[in-house]
Amino acid sequence: MEIFLDSANLSEIQKWTDMGIIDGVTTNPSIMLKDGAYNIETRAKEIAKLISPNPLSVEVTTNDLAEMVSQAKKFDSWAQNIAIKIPQINQDGVPCYGVIKQLEEAGIMVNATVALSIGQVMLSAKAGATYISIFAGRISDEGGDSAAVIANSADWLERWDYKSKIIVGSIRSVGDVISAALAGAHIVTTPPAMLA
Ligand code: E4P
Repeated sequence: MEIFLDSANLSEIQKWTDMGIIDGVTTNPSIMLKDGAYNIETRAKEIAKLISPNPLSVEVTTNDLAEMVSQAKKFDSWAQNIAIKIPQINQDGVPCYGVIKQLEEAGIMVNATVALSIGQVMLSAKAGATYISIFAGRISDEGGDSAAVIANSADWLERWDYKSKIIVGSIRSVGDVISAALAGAHIVTTPPAMLA
């Protein structure tokens, strides 16, 4: 299993990289702001360089599908190890799988984010996503069984030989990390505090 850091904090990323603990980094617009990155391009380039060749996920900031594609292409040009986070559905409930397919076909790594069910995992895998982020904390918030979603998704991807790797995010406790690990997550992305 790999461990990613869910952070845009350069000193934390450096610290856990130096210890040989992390295999990649995930961010989103809120994490960037929380960690003082007001210029996404500058911080993304700094992180990508620091962890290269390991992957950095950067999320699109638009609700418009065509704009997602052009924004993703721009983000992708910043460094070779950037994966683009595309949501399962936009804020109007429109599925974004066509965007995922188009980007992967253009050779751009996609992290299909905010997956809350095995159905969404199946659709993201079919669309060709390199990574699929299951949001464990948010599944639990709705009374769901995140460990079951992770375990069933990992089994299904393996049974049908899909390339997609599950990243479990929305981690709220050390117990969530262990639970995701034991359920069969390929990757867990965690805030630095959980590692500490
Ligand atoms: C993972 O890739 C996300 O950045 C993160 O874990 C989001 O979690 P939250 O918004 O539910 O805290």
